[in-house]
Amino acid sequence: MSIATAETREYTRMMWRKRLRDWRSPRLGLARVIGSVSLELFESQGDVHVDVLRHHGLIDAMAIYDLGCGCGRTAQALQRAGWQGSYTGADILAPLVRELRRTCPGYTALVNRNYTIIAPDDSLDMLFHWSVFTHLTPEQCMLYMRESFRALKPGGKLVFSFLELEDPAHRGIFQRRVKRIGANGREGVLDSFLHRDWIRFFAEECGFTAPEFTDGDDAAHHPAFWQSLVAMSKPAA
Ligand SMILES: C[S@@+](CC[C@H](N)C(=O)[O-])C[C@H]1O[C@@H](n2cnc3c(N)ncnc32)[C@H](O)[C@@H]1O
Repeated sequence: MSIATAETREYTRMMWRKRLRDWRSPRLGLARVIGSVSLELFESQGDVHVDVLRHHGLIDAMAIYDLGCGCGRTAQALQRAGWQGSYTGADILAPLVRELRRTCPGYTALVNRNYTIIAPDDSLDMLFHWSVFTHLTPEQCMLYMRESFRALKPGGKLVFSFLELEDPAHRGIFQRRVKRIGANGREGVLDSFLHRDWIRFFAEECGFTAPEFTDGDDAAHHPAFWQSLVAMSKPAA
């Protein structure tokens, strides 16, 4: 069940490469590790995360879980927004978790290198993850979805982002990766794509309600997320 050390090593290598380039600004270095090229972007993306969560029912006093929380892009935005509740974030990389703890002292942040959700059965109102299944295999996604189902309360919600080749805006990531693998023979951190049908299948296997999808350019209910979004619920008891 433990996450392969080779995978963790690959992330750590990437992390130090990016952080070293930004040694004069450790905050920016960490923001770059999780994909924000500036601190302004880090904050505005976090604000969009909160808008998405609110659209999907986030209110005060909820128990929420941020899988692959990174250095706290969402946690810091929740704090800025004045949200009150029980937040737990988990990630495989200790330096990112330390940064979340430093910036959001009232929140719980954990290092977890197993395909588990660190929460009792039926205990969470909402579980979310942004740009995490984009780095995992479908099998790993399935393991986390099973665990998410277990940990959510009946009626609780799972919301996450993913990449799909059906979206022309996401194809560049795939094309650049093909080019790099062709040129170098290997590529570091995995960028992976899911199909909506696969997500429907995983949801059904776990017992979730039928997933509802939001296109990456859909700005009807919150600013466009760019990655595709999906939401599903654990059926109410
Ligand atoms: C692109 S970053 C996104 C971070 C955060 N979700 C955000 O949006 O700010 C992807 C995160 O997933 C974490 N990650 C990668 N593989 C993971 C795994 N198997 N379990 C949990 N987290 C993982 C990485 O360490 C990294 O922090």
